[in-house]
Amino acid sequence: MSTTLRARRSCLAVPGSSQKFIDKARTLNSDQVFLDLEDACAPLAKPGARKTIVEALNEGGWGEKIRVVRVNDWTTEWTYRDVTEVVEGAGANLDAIMLPKVQTPEQVVALDLLLTQIEKTIGYEVGKIGIEAQIENALGLTNVNAIATASPRVETIIFGPADFMASINMKSLVVGEQPPGYDVGDAYHHILMSILMAARAHDKQAIDGPFLQIKDVDAFRRVAGRSAALGFDGKWVLHPGQIDAANETFSPAQSDYDHAENILDAYEYFTSEAGGKRGAAMIGDEMIDEASRKMALVISGKGRAAGM
Ligand code: GLV
Ligand code: MG
Repeated sequence: MSTTLRARRSCLAVPGSSQKFIDKARTLNSDQVFLDLEDACAPLAKPGARKTIVEALNEGGWGEKIRVVRVNDWTTEWTYRDVTEVVEGAGANLDAIMLPKVQTPEQVVALDLLLTQIEKTIGYEVGKIGIEAQIENALGLTNVNAIATASPRVETIIFGPADFMASINMKSLVVGEQPPGYDVGDAYHHILMSILMAARAHDKQAIDGPFLQIKDVDAFRRVAGRSAALGFDGKWVLHPGQIDAANETFSPAQSDYDHAENILDAYEYFTSEAGGKRGAAMIGDEMIDEASRKMALVISGKGRAAGM
Protein backbone atom coordinates (compact mmCIF):
# COMPACT_ATOMS: atom_id res chain seq x y z
CA MET A 1 0.00 0.00 0.00
CA SER A 2 1.21 3.47 -0.75
CA THR A 3 2.55 5.27 2.25
CA THR A 4 1.05 8.54 1.02
CA LEU A 5 -2.57 7.39 0.79
CA ARG A 6 -4.80 7.58 3.84
CA ALA A 7 -6.85 4.61 5.08
CA ARG A 8 -10.07 3.96 3.16
CA ARG A 9 -11.38 0.88 4.97
CA SER A 10 -14.98 2.14 4.92
CA CYS A 11 -16.22 4.40 2.10
CA LEU A 12 -19.69 5.67 2.99
CA ALA A 13 -22.12 6.32 0.11
CA VAL A 14 -24.45 9.28 0.71
CA PRO A 15 -27.05 10.57 -1.77
CA GLY A 16 -26.09 14.15 -2.60
CA SER A 17 -29.75 15.09 -2.74
CA SER A 18 -30.46 14.20 0.89
CA GLN A 19 -29.64 16.82 3.51
CA LYS A 20 -30.76 14.38 6.21
CA PHE A 21 -28.31 11.65 5.14
CA ILE A 22 -25.53 14.21 4.67
CA ASP A 23 -26.01 15.51 8.22
CA LYS A 24 -26.04 11.99 9.60
CA ALA A 25 -22.90 11.04 7.63
CA ARG A 26 -20.88 13.73 9.41
CA THR A 27 -21.44 11.96 12.73
CA LEU A 28 -20.32 8.50 11.55
CA ASN A 29 -16.86 6.97 11.79
CA SER A 30 -16.23 5.94 8.18
CA ASP A 31 -12.74 6.62 6.79
CA GLN A 32 -14.23 8.18 3.67
CA VAL A 33 -17.54 9.74 2.71
CA PHE A 34 -18.65 10.15 -0.88
CA LEU A 35 -21.54 12.42 -1.76
CA ASP A 36 -23.27 10.93 -4.78
CA LEU A 37 -24.51 12.74 -7.87
CA GLU A 38 -24.80 9.51 -9.87
CA ASP A 39 -27.11 6.57 -9.30
CA ALA A 40 -28.35 7.52 -5.82
CA CYS A 41 -29.53 10.85 -7.21
CA ALA A 42 -32.56 11.05 -9.57
CA PRO A 43 -32.03 13.01 -12.83
CA LEU A 44 -34.33 15.87 -11.78
CA ALA A 45 -32.65 16.08 -8.38
CA LYS A 46 -29.11 16.44 -9.76
CA PRO A 47 -28.98 20.25 -10.21
CA GLY A 48 -30.22 20.81 -6.63
CA ALA A 49 -27.89 18.12 -5.31
CA ARG A 50 -24.85 19.89 -6.77
CA LYS A 51 -25.71 22.94 -4.66
CA THR A 52 -26.45 20.88 -1.56
CA ILE A 53 -23.08 19.14 -1.92
CA VAL A 54 -21.14 22.40 -2.34
CA GLU A 55 -22.76 23.78 0.83
CA ALA A 56 -22.17 20.57 2.75
CA LEU A 57 -18.47 20.48 1.87
CA ASN A 58 -17.94 24.15 2.67
CA GLU A 59 -19.82 23.92 5.97
CA GLY A 60 -17.26 21.33 7.11
CA GLY A 61 -17.64 19.10 10.13
CA TRP A 62 -16.19 16.09 8.28
CA GLY A 63 -13.35 15.50 10.74
CA GLU A 64 -10.60 13.28 9.32
CA LYS A 65 -12.81 11.75 6.65
CA ILE A 66 -11.65 11.73 3.05
CA ARG A 67 -14.22 13.88 1.22
CA VAL A 68 -15.21 12.62 -2.22
CA VAL A 69 -17.97 13.47 -4.70
CA ARG A 70 -19.14 10.92 -7.26
CA VAL A 71 -20.04 12.65 -10.52
CA ASN A 72 -21.94 11.15 -13.44
CA ASP A 73 -20.03 9.23 -16.10
CA TRP A 74 -18.82 10.77 -19.34
CA THR A 75 -21.56 9.12 -21.47
CA THR A 76 -24.17 11.33 -19.79
CA GLU A 77 -24.76 15.05 -20.32
CA TRP A 78 -24.12 15.83 -16.63
CA THR A 79 -20.42 15.19 -16.01
CA TYR A 80 -18.89 18.56 -16.91
CA ARG A 81 -21.43 20.52 -14.85
CA ASP A 82 -21.07 18.14 -11.91
CA VAL A 83 -17.31 18.66 -11.91
CA THR A 84 -17.37 22.37 -12.65
CA GLU A 85 -20.00 23.31 -10.07
CA VAL A 86 -18.64 21.12 -7.30
CA VAL A 87 -14.94 21.88 -7.78
CA GLU A 88 -15.38 25.60 -8.44
CA GLY A 89 -17.70 25.87 -5.46
CA ALA A 90 -15.97 23.62 -2.95
CA GLY A 91 -12.62 22.48 -4.38
CA ALA A 92 -10.81 23.72 -1.29
CA ASN A 93 -12.84 21.32 0.85
CA LEU A 94 -12.76 18.29 -1.43
CA ASP A 95 -10.18 15.50 -1.62
CA ALA A 96 -11.20 13.58 -4.74
CA ILE A 97 -13.71 13.12 -7.53
CA MET A 98 -15.06 9.61 -8.10
CA LEU A 99 -15.61 8.83 -11.78
CA PRO A 100 -18.03 5.95 -12.35
CA LYS A 101 -18.18 3.52 -15.31
CA VAL A 102 -14.66 4.31 -16.48
CA GLN A 103 -14.03 2.43 -19.72
CA THR A 104 -10.89 3.98 -21.20
CA PRO A 105 -7.85 5.88 -19.94
CA GLU A 106 -8.96 8.86 -22.06
CA GLN A 107 -11.96 9.32 -19.77
CA VAL A 108 -9.58 9.75 -16.84
CA VAL A 109 -7.40 12.12 -18.84
CA ALA A 110 -10.49 14.21 -19.71
CA LEU A 111 -11.34 14.56 -16.02
CA ASP A 112 -7.71 15.38 -15.18
CA LEU A 113 -7.66 18.17 -17.79
CA LEU A 114 -10.91 19.65 -16.58
CA LEU A 115 -9.72 19.57 -12.95
CA THR A 116 -6.45 21.25 -13.93
CA GLN A 117 -8.28 24.09 -15.66
CA ILE A 118 -10.56 24.65 -12.70
CA GLU A 119 -7.65 24.53 -10.25
CA LYS A 120 -5.74 27.11 -12.30
CA THR A 121 -8.79 29.36 -12.70
CA ILE A 122 -9.75 29.33 -9.03
CA GLY A 123 -6.16 29.37 -7.79
CA TYR A 124 -6.03 25.96 -6.11
CA GLU A 125 -2.83 23.96 -6.08
CA VAL A 126 -2.75 22.03 -9.38
CA GLY A 127 -3.11 18.29 -8.86
CA LYS A 128 -4.55 18.62 -5.36
CA ILE A 129 -7.81 16.86 -6.19
CA GLY A 130 -7.50 13.11 -6.65
CA ILE A 131 -9.47 10.74 -8.88
CA GLU A 132 -11.19 7.52 -7.85
CA ALA A 133 -11.90 5.33 -10.90
CA GLN A 134 -14.79 2.89 -10.78
CA ILE A 135 -14.52 -0.24 -12.94
CA GLU A 136 -18.06 -1.30 -13.81
CA ASN A 137 -17.99 -3.09 -17.16
CA ALA A 138 -15.96 -5.40 -19.35
CA LEU A 139 -14.21 -2.66 -21.32
CA GLY A 140 -13.17 -0.91 -18.11
CA LEU A 141 -11.73 -4.15 -16.74
CA THR A 142 -9.76 -4.91 -19.88
CA ASN A 143 -8.28 -1.38 -19.68
CA VAL A 144 -7.73 -1.34 -15.93
CA ASN A 145 -3.94 -0.98 -16.05
CA ALA A 146 -4.10 1.92 -18.49
CA ILE A 147 -6.83 3.52 -16.38
CA ALA A 148 -4.70 3.23 -13.24
CA THR A 149 -1.82 5.06 -14.93
CA ALA A 150 -3.83 7.57 -16.97
CA SER A 151 -3.23 10.36 -14.46
CA PRO A 152 -1.11 10.79 -11.33
CA ARG A 153 -4.33 11.94 -9.68
CA VAL A 154 -5.72 8.39 -9.64
CA GLU A 155 -5.73 7.20 -6.02
CA THR A 156 -8.11 4.26 -6.06
CA ILE A 157 -9.50 1.64 -8.40
CA ILE A 158 -12.99 0.65 -7.28
CA PHE A 159 -15.00 -2.43 -8.22
CA GLY A 160 -18.64 -1.53 -9.00
CA PRO A 161 -20.25 -4.97 -8.74
CA ALA A 162 -23.90 -4.07 -9.45
CA ASP A 163 -23.24 -2.31 -12.75
CA PHE A 164 -20.55 -4.86 -13.58
CA MET A 165 -22.88 -7.82 -13.11
CA ALA A 166 -25.49 -6.12 -15.30
CA SER A 167 -22.94 -5.22 -17.98
CA ILE A 168 -21.64 -8.77 -18.41
CA ASN A 169 -25.17 -10.30 -18.31
CA MET A 170 -24.48 -12.25 -15.13
CA LYS A 171 -27.55 -14.36 -14.26
CA SER A 172 -27.91 -13.05 -10.72
CA LEU A 173 -29.58 -10.22 -8.85
CA VAL A 174 -27.69 -10.51 -5.56
CA VAL A 175 -24.52 -8.43 -5.46
CA GLY A 176 -21.60 -10.19 -3.83
CA GLU A 177 -23.17 -13.65 -3.73
CA GLN A 178 -22.22 -16.32 -6.26
CA PRO A 179 -24.60 -16.49 -9.26
CA PRO A 180 -27.00 -19.43 -8.90
CA GLY A 181 -25.76 -22.40 -10.93
CA TYR A 182 -22.07 -21.43 -10.67
CA ASP A 183 -20.64 -23.94 -8.27
CA VAL A 184 -17.01 -24.24 -9.32
CA GLY A 185 -15.38 -21.35 -7.46
CA ASP A 186 -15.72 -17.63 -6.96
CA ALA A 187 -17.30 -15.88 -9.96
CA TYR A 188 -15.70 -12.57 -8.87
CA HIS A 189 -12.15 -13.81 -8.41
CA HIS A 190 -10.80 -12.77 -11.80
CA ILE A 191 -12.40 -9.31 -11.57
CA LEU A 192 -11.16 -8.65 -8.05
CA MET A 193 -7.66 -9.90 -8.83
CA SER A 194 -7.40 -7.85 -12.03
CA ILE A 195 -8.32 -4.70 -10.11
CA LEU A 196 -5.98 -5.58 -7.27
CA MET A 197 -3.05 -6.28 -9.60
CA ALA A 198 -3.53 -2.95 -11.40
CA ALA A 199 -3.73 -1.17 -8.06
CA ARG A 200 -0.66 -2.87 -6.61
CA ALA A 201 1.37 -2.52 -9.81
CA HIS A 202 0.84 1.23 -9.78
CA ASP A 203 0.67 2.01 -6.06
CA LYS A 204 -3.05 2.76 -5.89
CA GLN A 205 -5.66 1.58 -3.42
CA ALA A 206 -8.08 -1.22 -4.38
CA ILE A 207 -11.61 -0.70 -3.08
CA ASP A 208 -14.47 -3.20 -3.16
CA GLY A 209 -17.97 -1.92 -3.96
CA PRO A 210 -21.31 -2.13 -2.17
CA PHE A 211 -23.18 -4.98 -0.52
CA LEU A 212 -26.86 -4.25 -0.84
CA GLN A 213 -28.44 -6.45 1.87
CA ILE A 214 -27.82 -3.68 4.37
CA LYS A 215 -29.46 -5.36 7.38
CA ASP A 216 -27.38 -8.52 7.07
CA VAL A 217 -24.11 -7.45 8.67
CA ASP A 218 -22.86 -11.05 8.96
CA ALA A 219 -23.19 -11.46 5.21
CA PHE A 220 -21.42 -8.11 4.75
CA ARG A 221 -18.53 -9.37 6.88
CA ARG A 222 -18.35 -12.59 4.86
CA VAL A 223 -18.27 -10.80 1.49
CA ALA A 224 -15.93 -8.06 2.71
CA GLY A 225 -13.68 -10.71 4.24
CA ARG A 226 -12.98 -12.16 0.79
CA SER A 227 -11.66 -8.98 -0.78
CA ALA A 228 -9.86 -8.04 2.45
CA ALA A 229 -8.13 -11.42 2.46
CA LEU A 230 -6.93 -10.88 -1.11
CA GLY A 231 -5.41 -7.53 -0.17
CA PHE A 232 -8.08 -4.92 -0.92
CA ASP A 233 -7.85 -1.74 1.14
CA GLY A 234 -11.52 -1.12 1.85
CA LYS A 235 -15.13 -1.40 0.80
CA TRP A 236 -18.16 0.78 0.28
CA VAL A 237 -20.67 0.98 3.07
CA LEU A 238 -24.29 1.93 2.43
CA HIS A 239 -25.57 1.96 5.99
CA PRO A 240 -24.16 2.98 9.40
CA GLY A 241 -24.45 -0.66 10.50
CA GLN A 242 -21.79 -1.71 7.96
CA ILE A 243 -19.12 0.80 9.05
CA ASP A 244 -17.62 -0.93 12.08
CA ALA A 245 -17.68 -4.23 10.19
CA ALA A 246 -15.71 -2.68 7.32
CA ASN A 247 -13.23 -0.93 9.62
CA GLU A 248 -12.59 -4.20 11.44
CA THR A 249 -12.48 -6.40 8.36
CA PHE A 250 -9.94 -4.21 6.56
CA SER A 251 -7.72 -3.78 9.64
CA PRO A 252 -5.40 -6.60 10.66
CA ALA A 253 -6.39 -8.67 13.69
CA GLN A 254 -4.58 -7.38 16.80
CA SER A 255 -2.72 -10.71 17.12
CA ASP A 256 -1.50 -10.48 13.49
CA TYR A 257 -0.44 -6.88 13.99
CA ASP A 258 1.50 -7.79 17.14
CA HIS A 259 3.09 -10.74 15.38
CA ALA A 260 4.10 -8.55 12.42
CA GLU A 261 5.75 -6.06 14.77
CA ASN A 262 7.60 -8.95 16.44
CA ILE A 263 8.83 -10.20 13.09
CA LEU A 264 10.10 -6.74 12.18
CA ASP A 265 11.87 -6.32 15.53
CA ALA A 266 13.36 -9.81 15.45
CA TYR A 267 14.50 -9.52 11.86
CA GLU A 268 16.15 -6.20 12.53
CA TYR A 269 17.85 -7.54 15.65
CA PHE A 270 19.14 -10.78 14.08
CA THR A 271 20.34 -9.31 10.84
CA SER A 272 22.10 -6.37 12.47
CA GLU A 273 23.60 -8.64 15.14
CA ALA A 274 25.18 -10.65 12.32
CA GLY A 275 26.62 -7.49 10.83
CA GLY A 276 24.29 -7.66 7.84
CA LYS A 277 25.57 -11.13 6.88
CA ARG A 278 22.63 -13.17 8.06
CA GLY A 279 19.54 -13.42 5.81
CA ALA A 280 17.24 -15.57 7.96
CA ALA A 281 16.37 -15.91 11.64
CA MET A 282 14.03 -17.89 13.88
CA ILE A 283 11.15 -16.73 16.07
CA GLY A 284 10.13 -19.79 18.04
CA ASP A 285 9.47 -22.45 15.39
CA GLU A 286 9.05 -19.96 12.57
CA MET A 287 11.78 -19.14 10.10
CA ILE A 288 11.74 -15.56 8.92
CA ASP A 289 13.59 -14.03 6.01
CA GLU A 290 13.41 -10.95 3.80
CA ALA A 291 10.06 -12.03 2.30
CA SER A 292 8.63 -12.48 5.82
CA ARG A 293 9.78 -8.97 6.60
CA LYS A 294 7.89 -7.66 3.56
CA MET A 295 4.70 -9.50 4.54
CA ALA A 296 5.06 -8.16 8.07
CA LEU A 297 5.50 -4.64 6.71
CA VAL A 298 2.15 -4.92 4.90
CA ILE A 299 0.27 -5.98 8.04
CA SER A 300 2.09 -3.45 10.17
CA GLY A 301 1.40 -0.68 7.61
CA LYS A 302 -2.31 -1.52 7.47
CA GLY A 303 -2.43 -1.58 11.27
CA ARG A 304 -0.70 1.77 11.62
CA ALA A 305 -2.98 3.33 8.98
CA ALA A 306 -5.89 2.03 11.05
CA GLY A 307 -4.45 3.69 14.18
CA MET A 308 -3.28 0.49 15.93
C1 GLV B 1 -21.63 0.67 -7.76
O1 GLV B 1 -21.64 1.72 -8.32
C2 GLV B 1 -22.05 -0.54 -8.39
O2 GLV B 1 -22.51 -0.46 -9.54
O3 GLV B 1 -21.94 -1.61 -7.76
MG1 MG C 1 -22.40 1.58 -10.33
